[in-house]
Amino acid sequence: MSTVVLQLSANAIRQAADALRAGQLVAFPTETVYGLGARADQSGPVRSIFAAKGRPPGNPLIVHVPDREAALSLAADWPPMADALARAFWPGPLTLVVTRAPGKVADEATASGPTVGVRVPAHPAALDLLREAGVPVAAPSANRSTTISPTTAAHVMKTLGGIVNVVLDAGPTGFGIESTIIDVTRSPARLLRHGAIALAEIARFGEVIDATQVSVDPSARAEAPGMHEKHYAPRARALLVPAEHLRAKVNELQAQGEKVGVIDRATERPSSESNGPPSWITLPADAEGYASNLYAALHALDDSGCDVIVIAEVPSAPAWAAIRDRLRRATAR
Ligand code: TXA
Ligand code: MG
Repeated sequence: MSTVVLQLSANAIRQAADALRAGQLVAFPTETVYGLGARADQSGPVRSIFAAKGRPPGNPLIVHVPDREAALSLAADWPPMADALARAFWPGPLTLVVTRAPGKVADEATASGPTVGVRVPAHPAALDLLREAGVPVAAPSANRSTTISPTTAAHVMKTLGGIVNVVLDAGPTGFGIESTIIDVTRSPARLLRHGAIALAEIARFGEVIDATQVSVDPSARAEAPGMHEKHYAPRARALLVPAEHLRAKVNELQAQGEKVGVIDRATERPSSESNGPPSWITLPADAEGYASNLYAALHALDDSGCDVIVIAEVPSAPAWAAIRDRLRRATAR
């Protein structure tokens, strides 16, 4: 099968929406990462998402809708916390896990669970596409399971070219890190995944427990089933090292004959490296800028054939929580 890549235009939106309605797979930009979309109200298209990604069927999908009313229609219960967060952050990089209304989305989309994850993305192309399609759209990140999430159409093509029917190309995404996931079916609400919106922002609207910490009870069911350790992983082996040991680590690995890629932060780069090799990528010093470029850096170093990617540790401040989470998973072995 050949994949059709459409540059963003009104016509492209119509074509992509037609493809979604016809049950095809459409990769589209959101403000976080590219999503692999299929209509969420039919089993067949949803199953084809799992097949395309190689995703275990027990890991539910996020359902994308164009506005709060459409999200409400998928929920059996809409607690005050859900409404407060939806009004504050939608459209935007927030996923709400709510009790699922019967018969609205295919069982496969929720892994047959009692809840559904819903979100209204902020990307104008995504909103146009969702409005034009007129159906809820299930969309995980548009990459094969356990590989790095895509922030460009080219990243999507790397693992899903020839598998997805249509890619809607609107250039690089903005935030670069996935949505924050909050389970509002319980009180207090629970943070299931760190993401583009910091926990402190969410907590302004009500009590939230950070449920992303490793459970002390090993038999406890994973809260967000997709949050297994190895995730967002490049093909190359990846290591996190304290910034002050970066140079020494790179030298040591190079001495062993390894092809080394490096990711550091602007403030930590020695001035002598300002014209460094292409395998040395310096990301912005601030969390927002860093997040928006991190996946592209991992993709680029992987593509350049590095054996190992050495990444300088990032600050421990709360604003860096989602980035620390992704780096931990990228370096998990
Ligand atoms: O930014 C994002 O959220 C991107 C864009 C495309 O919207 N999507 C994304 O989807 O990151 P995915 O499939 O890569 O991650 C979805 C996460 C998984 O960890 C899954 O377990 C969790 O959301 N999830 C989805 N529905 C859930 C539910 N009903 N209960 C608990 N966790 C849920
Ligand atoms: Mg993903």
